[in-house]
Amino acid sequence: MANAKRQILIAGNWKMYKTTAEAQAFVEALAQSMQSVPQNALPQVIVAAPFTALSSVAQAIKDKKLPVITAAQTMESKEEGAYTGEISPKMLLDIGVKTVVIGHSERRQYYNETDTSVNAKTLAALKHGMTPIVCVGELLSEREAKQTDAVIERQVNEALKEISSADYAKLVFAYEPVWAIGTGKVCESPEANRVCALIRTLLNQKGDGERTRVLYGGSVKPDNIDELLGQSDIDGALVGGASLEAESFFKLVEAGVAKTTA
Ligand code: 13P
Repeated sequence: MANAKRQILIAGNWKMYKTTAEAQAFVEALAQSMQSVPQNALPQVIVAAPFTALSSVAQAIKDKKLPVITAAQTMESKEEGAYTGEISPKMLLDIGVKTVVIGHSERRQYYNETDTSVNAKTLAALKHGMTPIVCVGELLSEREAKQTDAVIERQVNEALKEISSADYAKLVFAYEPVWAIGTGKVCESPEANRVCALIRTLLNQKGDGERTRVLYGGSVKPDNIDELLGQSDIDGALVGGASLEAESFFKLVEAGVAKTTA
């Protein structure tokens, strides 16, 4: 069972999916399903919506008093300025969004996100009282070359630069092996746990990582989540494909309920 000091977290990452109408329909359906669960039995639940749907999703969740947190999928680290197309921490806070995914592998791969920008964005999130979900993970070629641990160590240590250890409890890390994302090839639970424990060890080398949540992401589905959540150092899941339908996302939430109340 996951550690009692750390609340289980089930986070959906919608990526570049859902119009505002589709997002509304999801919130509506999820609200219906979640009614059956007492609030104190729920894990923490997050949905990371695309920018265009963020405001309306945040508002719908507020109106329905749904215990779900709205997150952004990325942001700029700077306050404001001539950065065409970017969204600042201040803009997210303005619409009530206080959680942000940072350094997702798709952003590292396609949009030039680097360890340095991940660090700047993580610092910016903390400075603005936001919760960063910092993603790390190795490529298939790196795993095959037995570089997994070295890659994770570099990504985590770079992300943590200049971050006060007093803030470690506010951070969330997500271990997402790139070869497991969207492929249906989930990382074996013991191995996912080993890497999540490595992330915690790296935190513990600089401060106290016992309160930091470390999620696993990569082909998490209703039929494999129980085994993942059964591991000692996996505190939840960051989910792409299976978060797009309210029905399958709710099944993941239910797995979190089972762990939360165990
Ligand atoms: P899948 O669950 O579709 O593999 O995506 C994982 C992911 O990238 C979540 O951020």
